[in-house]
Amino acid sequence: TTIYILNGPNLNLLGQRQPEIYGHETLADVERRCAEVAAEKGFSVRLFQSNHEGTIVDQIHEARQAACGIVINPAAYTHTSVAILDALNTFEGPVIECHISNVHKRESFRHHSYVSLRADGVLAGFGIEGYELAVRRICSLCAGG
Ligand code: DQA
Repeated sequence: TTIYILNGPNLNLLGQRQPEIYGHETLADVERRCAEVAAEKGFSVRLFQSNHEGTIVDQIHEARQAACGIVINPAAYTHTSVAILDALNTFEGPVIECHISNVHKRESFRHHSYVSLRADGVLAGFGIEGYELAVRRICSLCAGG
């Protein structure tokens, strides 16, 4: 069974992008770490990244058939996208929202999340370890508890 890990705009530059905020590790490191955590529980992961809102909507639609749960870092779309919220509302499995930085410690425009209206859990400020924690949680929710 597969867990989708969806990433929004500018996260392709993870590791190079404002490392004082987002750290030095890359999305490939995130994928490797999450794959290890998931494998321990008998799950696999697929990690996607897009800079385009509609592509993320399409990936969520694909997840309806292909994934038992979703970990999503919508990046800046967190704070703007009704379309991503609506797409997540069509998905029946568990959804965990994950932010590398502590958005609540930052500018006030980062304090509101549309995606939180759907997320079963939210992580912020755990660095890329947050993705591992989110995957762990999705594994337990997908396993029925
Ligand atoms: C982010 C926080 C967002 O506010 C920001 O736009 C991002 C990344 C995070 O992971 O901390 O691009 O989602």
